[in-house]
Amino acid sequence: MVRKTPPMGWNSWNTFGSQINEEVILRAADSLVASGLAACGYEYVVIDDCWSLPQRDAQGRLVPDPEKFPHGMKYVADYIHQKGLKFGMYSDAGPKTCAGYPGSGNHEHIDAATFASWDVDYLKYDYCYHEEMNLPGAVLYKRMGLALANCGRDILFSACSWGADDSYQWMKETGAHIWRSTGDIQDAFSSVRNLIQQEITRMEYNGQGCFNDLDMLIVGMNGEGNVAMGGCTPEEYALHFAFWCFFGSPLMIGSDLSKLDETSLRLLTNPDLIRIDQDSAYRQPFFLAPLEKNMERTTDQHYYKDYPGHAPLLARILDDGSVAIGLFNLSEQTVTDVADAGTIGVAPDCPKTLVAQDVFSGEQLPFVDGKLSITCAPHTCRVFIARLCD
Ligand code: GLA
Repeated sequence: MVRKTPPMGWNSWNTFGSQINEEVILRAADSLVASGLAACGYEYVVIDDCWSLPQRDAQGRLVPDPEKFPHGMKYVADYIHQKGLKFGMYSDAGPKTCAGYPGSGNHEHIDAATFASWDVDYLKYDYCYHEEMNLPGAVLYKRMGLALANCGRDILFSACSWGADDSYQWMKETGAHIWRSTGDIQDAFSSVRNLIQQEITRMEYNGQGCFNDLDMLIVGMNGEGNVAMGGCTPEEYALHFAFWCFFGSPLMIGSDLSKLDETSLRLLTNPDLIRIDQDSAYRQPFFLAPLEKNMERTTDQHYYKDYPGHAPLLARILDDGSVAIGLFNLSEQTVTDVADAGTIGVAPDCPKTLVAQDVFSGEQLPFVDGKLSITCAPHTCRVFIARLCD
């Protein structure tokens, strides 16, 4: 099945790590609905690593840990489905998961059949211990891609190889619907900046059918949970979320939904940002300022060289002819840059003018003489949707 837009939902890892159980997962499903997040499109509830027993059963099947999941996984799936949501689980292409539980390497078909029998809708597939398989990553992901495509159930295949082993070159062959184009996120602005800088070198690999995945969201974690690293300011979380949307990443919330603060909820439900993320044309962003001003590439072209003044100014043409414009100031200085209508494709004789609307404040700003000057304090962003007006 072709996925037209990136998936949205919630995943247990960022907050709960190994401390998961049925209660945590069912309450997350409840919160997605009660908070209004589900109505905005957040539909997948995904159990990450650490859900199984350390051993398979006598038939070679994965077994949910009965202390954590006393009613089994079909029960969890039924509960989630009754809420109108979808159910995701986790495994690994190697013999073990990253946390050391049984992986699906050499058990791809039996595991795909097990996930299908539990009515799983989404499988996150990690890459730890893949070297023990002595096979290329492309083959390991094709194995599970084929197993899922033949398991009798429509299961979204979420590949998680962190952009390693040049996976941008081969992941789209494997049947993956989304692929992790970057490393693991942590709850700190330095991590957000690092992932953005990685993603910018890989943005041309993004597209319908197999979306780049910048990893789960940290909005609302506020320095607590499994990937805590000091937390971010509200402005830094806003930059993080806005960039993920601008680049059309899957939006998998990672915070504890029972503690979600108002500011985080407002951010995660921002209709303009979600609309940019889910835009049906799914065109790539492009730089509005010269590339050399925004980034440097090392000789192999795929690793970003840290650039202290980095503040990418980007645009993305949306399905309805409007244009998303974003300045993301990753640097420690205030930055002013100018968006030029000519670079977006507005010809000098165009009878219309671009008018930009701020996605956070709603403020309307017309381009003056074909230009819009944008200023951002350190670690903040401004994002607009600009429309051609008479
Ligand atoms: C890897 C993945 C994370 C998470 C952990 C679980 O690090 O990239 O997203 O799934 O494994 O162990």
